Formats: sequence, C-alpha cells, structure tokens
Amino acid sequence: MSDIIPVPASIASAAYIDKAKYEEMYAASVENPDAFWAQEGRRIDWIKPFKTVRNVDYTYGSVSIKWFEDGTLNASANCLDRHLAERGDQTAILFEPDDPNAEAQHITYRQVYERVCKFANVLKALGVGKGDRVVIYLPMIPEAAYAMLACARIGAIHSVVFAGFSPDSLANRINDCEAKLVITADGAPRGGRVTNLKANADTALKHCAASVKCLVVKRTGQDIAWSADRDSWLDEMEAGVPAECPPTEMNAEDPLFVLYTSGSTGKPKGVVHTTGGYLVFAAMTHQITFDYKPGEVYWCTADVGWVTGHTYIVYGPLANGAISLMFEGVPTYPDAGRFWSVVAKHKVNTFYTAPTAIRALMGKGEEIVKKHDRSSLRILGTVGEPINPEAWRWYYEVVGDKRCPVVDTWWQTETGGHLITNLPGATPMKPGSATTPFFGVQPAVLDPGTGEELSGKAEGVLVIKDSWPGQMRTVWGDHQRFMDTYFQQYPGTYFTGDGCRRDEDGYYWITGRVDDVLNVSGHRMGTAEIESALVAHEAVSEAAVVGYPHDLKGQGIYCYVTLMADREPTEALRTELQNWVRSEIGPIAKPDLIQFAPGLPKTRSGKIMRRILRKIAEDDFGALGDTSTLAEPQVVDDLIENRQNRK
Ligand code: WT7
Repeated sequence: MSDIIPVPASIASAAYIDKAKYEEMYAASVENPDAFWAQEGRRIDWIKPFKTVRNVDYTYGSVSIKWFEDGTLNASANCLDRHLAERGDQTAILFEPDDPNAEAQHITYRQVYERVCKFANVLKALGVGKGDRVVIYLPMIPEAAYAMLACARIGAIHSVVFAGFSPDSLANRINDCEAKLVITADGAPRGGRVTNLKANADTALKHCAASVKCLVVKRTGQDIAWSADRDSWLDEMEAGVPAECPPTEMNAEDPLFVLYTSGSTGKPKGVVHTTGGYLVFAAMTHQITFDYKPGEVYWCTADVGWVTGHTYIVYGPLANGAISLMFEGVPTYPDAGRFWSVVAKHKVNTFYTAPTAIRALMGKGEEIVKKHDRSSLRILGTVGEPINPEAWRWYYEVVGDKRCPVVDTWWQTETGGHLITNLPGATPMKPGSATTPFFGVQPAVLDPGTGEELSGKAEGVLVIKDSWPGQMRTVWGDHQRFMDTYFQQYPGTYFTGDGCRRDEDGYYWITGRVDDVLNVSGHRMGTAEIESALVAHEAVSEAAVVGYPHDLKGQGIYCYVTLMADREPTEALRTELQNWVRSEIGPIAKPDLIQFAPGLPKTRSGKIMRRILRKIAEDDFGALGDTSTLAEPQVVDDLIENRQNRK
C-alpha cells in the first residue's frame, strides 16, 4: 500500500517548478545536457565565463569528470560580495546559540563579508595560500562558516571535521590531507555541556607534523593549554590584519573542499569537491528543492561537519542570498520542544532535518509540538536515511499540520547535492519514497549479480548513468580508489552503494546500503572502521561488526568480539569496549550491542560470513541459509544462543 499525497494547490501555484515545468525541464536536462547546464551555470557569477560545459569520462581506468572547466570564479565572492549591493543589510546567518537564554545573532551579508575578509587575511598571515589544506574543527558557530568562506576566498582547500570526532579521527584527517593549519575553538557548548575541543586538538596534534599550526576561536572563555609557537587566537590576529581581502581567481575545477566519509574499508576517504560545478549545483538544488523565496528564513539542522551542512547551510543558501539559520544546540535541550520553539521564535519558513531526529521527537508526543506556533512553516525536508512512513506522517501531520510538503532528499557526500527528491510544487508525495530524479540526474536500477539494467517496476542496486555538476571528482590523493569504489563494479555508471526499488509510477524507494557501510542516526560509519578500533584494544583478538534495525537510530551497531585467550568476558569489559570505540572514533560510533563470541563463522578460506552475523543480529536466525561451507558450523549455535538482540 502506498498512499499518494497530492501537492498542495497553494504551493504549486506559487512554486518555481510545477508538474508541467518539471517534466519539460527534466526532458531538456537529459536530452541536451550541454545546453541545459550552460544556462544553469549562469546562476552564479564567473570572473571568466566558461565556454566548455562538460567533459566527462566514466570509463574505469580513465575516469575524469570536469564541468565548466575553462571558467574562473571565487566561491566566497559568490556567497558574499555579489549580494552586498542588493542585500548587504539583510541577515545572512541567523545564529541561535545552545543556551536558549543567550541572544540570537542576526548577522548581515555585509557583516559576514567583513568577518570573512579579516579571517582570510589571518589565514594568509599564518602562511596559508592557494591550494593549501586547512582543517576546520569547530562547533556550530558562525566562525565555522567564516572559516570555510575565508579558505574559499584565498583558494585554500578546507576539510571540516565534525566536532564530535575523537582526537584520533582528527589526527588521521589532518595527516591524510597534509593540512597546514587546524582551526578550532576553546570549547563547544552543546545541550548545556561543553566539549573541550582545543584539548582534543592538542591531543591530535601530538600525532601530526610539528609544522601544523593551530588557530583558536574563543567561544566559552574556558582555560586551555597553550603552545606559544604553534597556537594563535583568532580575535588577536584579526586585530592586526587589513579589512579588505580581494577574492582569489580560481579555476572551476580547483578543489573547494575535501570532506572525509566512511567507506567499506577501514580508512575514511577524502571526498574532493571542486569549485564551479559544486556551487552551481548547490545553489540550484537549494533554490528549487526548497522552493526558496527571497526573504524566507531557512533552517537546516545538520552540522557543518557533514556534507549537508556544507551544501545546505553554507554554500547553497548563501550563494542564493538566503537567510540561513545556524543552530548550535541539540533538539532535546533544554527540552524536546527546542526545534519548535526556535521555529516560532524566528518564524522559520523551511525546516530541513533527519529521520532520526523526527523519530526521537515523535516519541515525546504531540503536546510539546503543538504548544509552539508553527504557522510560519511552508516546506519541510528530510535527509540522511530512508524515512519510515510513520515518522513521515507524524512530520507531515503534526509538525506541518498537513499544510507543508515534505521533501525527501536522497543524496550522498559524493553527490554534493540532491539527486532524487520530490519538488514541493511538482511531485505528489509517497511517504517513505525519495520519489523522482532531480534535473540532469539519470538513475538506473541494475540487477546486482549481472549488472543488467532493469526496466519498469524493479528492485536492485542504484547507479547513476551520467554526471551532474556537483559530483565528487576524486578521492584525495587516491584516484585509483575513487575509480575502484564507484566505477568498477558496474562499468560505465556511478555506483551509489545503495539498494533501491522503483515502483509502478517510476518512484524510487531507497532500501539502504548494499556495502559494509552502516547508517546510524543518519551518520555514515564503516563496519571496518569500528572493527579496527576494536582490535586495537589489547583484550580483543578478532571483531566483526554489522548493523541491525534500531527504532530510533535506524541502524544500531552490533559487534561480535572474540577475546584473547587469557581474557574473561565480563560486563565491565563490555562497557570498557563500548567506551573504547567511543573514544577511538567518536560518540557516534559507540557500539549498541557487543556479543562475546568464542568463534566467528568463517568459510574454509577464512572469510567471515557476514550474512550469517547480520541475520543473528537481526534476531532472524530461522533463515540462515547454507552454513555447510563453514569451517566450523558449530560456532553458529553458540552465536544464536548468546545473541544480544532478542525481539
Ligand atoms: C547515504 C549517504 C546526503 C546527506 C546525508 C548523508 C542514505 C541519504 C537519504 C534519503 C534514503 C538516504 C543513503 C546514502 N541516505 N539520504 N533521503 N533516503 N536514504 O550523507 O553520509 O554521505 O550518506 O545516506 O544510504 O547512500 P552520507
């Protein structure tokens, strides 16, 4: 049963794109991509206009993706300078601090421009130049956006590391991209507590080259350790640099940022996005998917540490001259009504969040939603994982009072922006389906075994047949890995790593990852990363990690752990291992369940049979399939007997 919820007539009549326009534009976008993107490319300002629109080779072995390759531009000038004449005094960033009693800040385009110029000059003073990498490890404060835009202004490549990541994860990323500088804050207030970010950075920097400098933003004023020849305060440095900083002319294909994301091997990969195509796609999808109208208050609740924050808090909204709300806190502080109280306080028009947040708040009941005025809301959005229809309904009915279309946006760190999503004025909704492709995007469903393209109603793996401007260009320092991950398995296409179903109306339903990647509360986590963290503990001899269905998180982390011969499986050790992974990777990677397993199911060649482990973790061991090829079939009985997830 899949219900169809029509587009509200009031939204359709005022939207940029209605159904007829979607069909016409979509056809044009795939029939003549050159002409289509030549026009869309002009939504941003170029220093030297492009002549070539696209130059794409999807052939394994020679993959190369270029958009607008002979054009030059500056991303920060597109987000700031070009708005000054028309809306210099309009709010660009509306900052809502963690503490609900602290004052919100309405920071205008001119003010952001001034801060970014100063910040950029500080970077220069610290020796950062075009092409250098800068790691940004900051809380959700305006300085995070300033830091990104300041890098973009001088052509430095930023790599934002989520402030919830551990010192180890931070160090790995600094080292992988060989950053010259880390930007952090003294502390990060969140949910009434403080994370000691500078202390984390200090720990990380012990494992990095001695030449790496550290720039510190004052947020909490707490005491911190200081290393005089390495550390500088941002405010002190800003006092000593010029106010103006002309934007550096960048080629469209110069990298704008690197963002690390988990894959199926232990080492996160640095996803590289370049300047021109990314910005065009960010601006276009932000305007069209959210039907963003000038003057509206737009709020994406993601963290700038994830791609959603890059594209839909900073680059997309600011390129469009929008009012982008930036929230430092968490949905449940001081109470579970915080989101709705912020919506009421700032008269938010567009609200974009993740299914995991919706499910958590759904559990707190309707009362706390209804006591806040949500009449300003016009468009709701969801991203990060498939949304279950119950959560979708609650979002649509309770939060949006059945007035606001819910856009279900499917995309990835790799895609830079939305690839499959409904458009508020054009696409009838089906709860749980990301619906239909965005302009220029050609999804296909393949048979996972043969790679054959399936037509009509079908289920299989999701690939994209041709490039779009926001596509990642390479893995930082490892183009071979880029090709191996995305272009090898199903030749001639971009492989998403997701499974999907296409229904009789051509709607896409994402069924989740088909690789060893978990999606925990909308955060991507490689099982191999968690396994490496576990085996790094002295008590652990072997580990295998799988996902299992979790009511709030979507997927939970289930670990099978074999201990060293001299270690006893105790509750204390279980807790110790959970905290160990938490401190090795970060709180988001803390295992939900740990099962001590004397043996793991392996084939005779020694390969762990994850299919069996997944089934047991799901508490669905009736259908384990063929276990006869196992080296020691009896280990399965023990695993079942001691399973940790009993429904
Ligand atoms: C994976 C990408 C893109 C920003 C957030 C996550 C899953 C994402 C949806 C959606 C179903 C979704 C996919 C995808 N995913 N959005 N609307 N419906 N699944 O970015 O960390 O790169 O993760 O998230 O499995 O492959 P990411």
